[in-house]
Amino acid sequence: MGSRSLMSRVLRSSMGMTILPSSSIFLTIPVAFMSRPPFPRFSGPQGRVHTSFILDNKRSFQAYNYRNERKRMSRKFYLFLHRKEKMNKSFYVTTPIYYVNDMPHIGTAYTTVAADALARYHRLKGEEVFFLTGTDEHGQHVARAAERHGVSPQEWADRMVVHFTEVWKRLNISNDYFIRTTDPKHVEVARKFIQLLYDKGDIYLDTYEGWYCVPDESFWLPSQLVDGKCPQCGREVEMVQEENYFFRLSAYADRLLSHIESHPEFVQPEIRRNEVISFIKQGLTDQSISRKTITWGIPLPFDESQVMYVWFDALLNYISAIDYGLDEERFRRTWPADVHLIGKEILRFHAIVWPAMLMAADLPLPRQVFAHGWLTVEGEKMSKSKGNVISPHELIDEYGVDAYRYYFLREFSFGYDGNFSRENMTGRYNADLANSLGNMVSRVLAMVERYRGGTVPEPSDREEEPDVALRESAARVFPEVDRSMERLAFNEALQAIWNFLAAINRYVDETAAWDLAKDPTLSRRLDTVLYNMVEAVRLTALLVVPFLPATGEGIWRRLGFADPIHAHHLPEAAAWGLFPPGQRVSKGEPLFPRKK
Ligand code: MSP
Repeated sequence: MGSRSLMSRVLRSSMGMTILPSSSIFLTIPVAFMSRPPFPRFSGPQGRVHTSFILDNKRSFQAYNYRNERKRMSRKFYLFLHRKEKMNKSFYVTTPIYYVNDMPHIGTAYTTVAADALARYHRLKGEEVFFLTGTDEHGQHVARAAERHGVSPQEWADRMVVHFTEVWKRLNISNDYFIRTTDPKHVEVARKFIQLLYDKGDIYLDTYEGWYCVPDESFWLPSQLVDGKCPQCGREVEMVQEENYFFRLSAYADRLLSHIESHPEFVQPEIRRNEVISFIKQGLTDQSISRKTITWGIPLPFDESQVMYVWFDALLNYISAIDYGLDEERFRRTWPADVHLIGKEILRFHAIVWPAMLMAADLPLPRQVFAHGWLTVEGEKMSKSKGNVISPHELIDEYGVDAYRYYFLREFSFGYDGNFSRENMTGRYNADLANSLGNMVSRVLAMVERYRGGTVPEPSDREEEPDVALRESAARVFPEVDRSMERLAFNEALQAIWNFLAAINRYVDETAAWDLAKDPTLSRRLDTVLYNMVEAVRLTALLVVPFLPATGEGIWRRLGFADPIHAHHLPEAAAWGLFPPGQRVSKGEPLFPRKK
C-alpha cells in the first residue's frame, strides 16, 4: 500500500469516514476552539490548528452515499459540540461511603462495581469524569467495633480502610479519589458547612428523646419501631435522651416535594421516588444532627462538647471531596453530582436529608439519586450470624475479576433485589463469557492466523447479505447500549452487547471461512469475511471495556493496536470499517477458560 493511501486510510479511520463517490477532496475546519479534538490535528497556515480530512473514493465497499456521509458528519459535529459543552463540567458519580466496622462484601462491592462501569462508560464517551468512593469512619458502631478489638477508633479505621482500598484495586475500580471522613480536609469542610447552617438559623438546640439503632446509625420514633426493634434491620434499638442540635428539615419539606415532583429523574427508580414522595407528604420532623454522649466524631465548631451526627458528617463527603469551601473553581467544575448510587436502605438520607442540607446552603441539588436493590445469597439475607457473608475475594479467586463484574451487572436488574447463587454464576460464566465472548474471539483470531498468517486482509468491495446483517447489527448496538446506560440499566446494556456477539457468532457460522479457504477462487471473499469478523471483534473490545476492563484491553492487544483502547471514544470509534488492514493480530491465551 502506497504511503499516500496509507495516510488517507489513517485519516479516514480516525474520522470514521468511509467513501465518497467524488475524487479526492481536501477540506480543513478550524478547531482552535476545541480543547480535546477526537480528530488528528495539524498546524495549518499561520500556525492555526486545523483538522484535516482527506476523503477519497479508492474503496467503496460500504453502501453509503454522499448524502449519508454528509448527514453522518453533521451528526458527528453535533455530538462533538454537545460533548464539548458537557466537558465544561465533569460527569460526577459517587458510591455511598462504607462503614469501616466490617469487611467489604459482595453487597458493598455491588454499588462500587456499578459506579465503576458507569464512570468508565462516560470516559469511553470522551467525557471528563469524577468518580468518588470512600469510607465512613466516625460514629458509634465504628467506635464500638474498635473497642471490641482493643484499639482506638482511628487505629481501627486505619486498619480497616486497607481492606476496602485493596478489594477495589483488585476489582479494577477506577475511582478518581478515595475519601475518608477522618481526612483533615473533610473535617474542615464539614465544620465550615455546619457553621454556615448554624449562622443562617437552620440549626437549633433542643432535647432529643427517642430510639437509636447503632448498626444503622439511625434515630427512630417509638411509632416507627417494629416489635420494638429497628424497622430497617430488625436489630435492638437503644433509648437516647440528650440535648442535641437539630436541623430544620421540616422547613424544606415543601420545596423538596416540589423539586421531586417536577424532576422525575431526581429519585429513581420510580418505586423509590413514590416512596420518598409519600414519606414527605406524611410530614417531616426536624433532624437531630449532633451527639453529646459520643466522642468519636467531628466536634461542632459552635459547641465543641458535641460531635456531628455521623450521617450529617458522611453526606458531606460528596462536597468535601471536591473542595467545597476550599477551592471554589474546582468545586463548581464538578458539582452538582450527576448521580449518587446508593442502596435502597439509605434512600431517605440521600433523597430527603441531603437535598435539604444543600438547599439550606444554597447549593444546587444532585441531578439524580439512584437506589438499587439488595442482594440475597442463595435466597437468604446476608448476615454475620448466618455466616453467609461472601467476600468479593472468594469469587474473584474462583471466577476472575471480569467474570465477577460481568455477573453482578448482567444478572440483576439494578433497581431491584436479586439473589446470588453460585450455580447461576457458573452458568453465566460458561454460556456468556467462555462461549459467546471468549470462544468467538479465539475462533476469529485463530482463523486470521491460520488463513492469512495473522495479517488482517483488505476486504473486497463486494458486500454480501451476511455482511450487511453484521454491519447493521453493529450500527444498532452502541445506541442501544447508550439508551440503557442513560437509565442505569446495566443488564440491558450488556444484553444489547451480547445480542451483537450472537450476531458475530452467526456470521462466523454462516460465512464458514473454513470452506472458503478450501477454494482459491474465493480468496477475496475470505478476505472480506476475515476483515468483517476482526472489525466486529474490535467493536466488541470497545463495547465491553467499561464493564470488563481487562478483557477489553486484552482483546485490543490481541488485535495488534499499539495505542491504548482508552484513547478511543464512542461513538466515533464505533463506526464500521476502521480496522486498519495489514495489521497483525494474535489469538493469545483463551479469555475465559470453561468452568466445570
Ligand atoms: N456509611 C453509610 C453510607 C453513607 S453515604 C453518605 C452506610 N454504609 S454501609 O457500609 O452500611 O454501606 C451501605 C451500602 O452498601 C448500601 O447502600 C449498599 O450500597 C451496599 N450494600 C450493603 N449490603 C448490601 C446488600 N446485601 N446488597 C446490595 N447492596 C448492599 O450505609
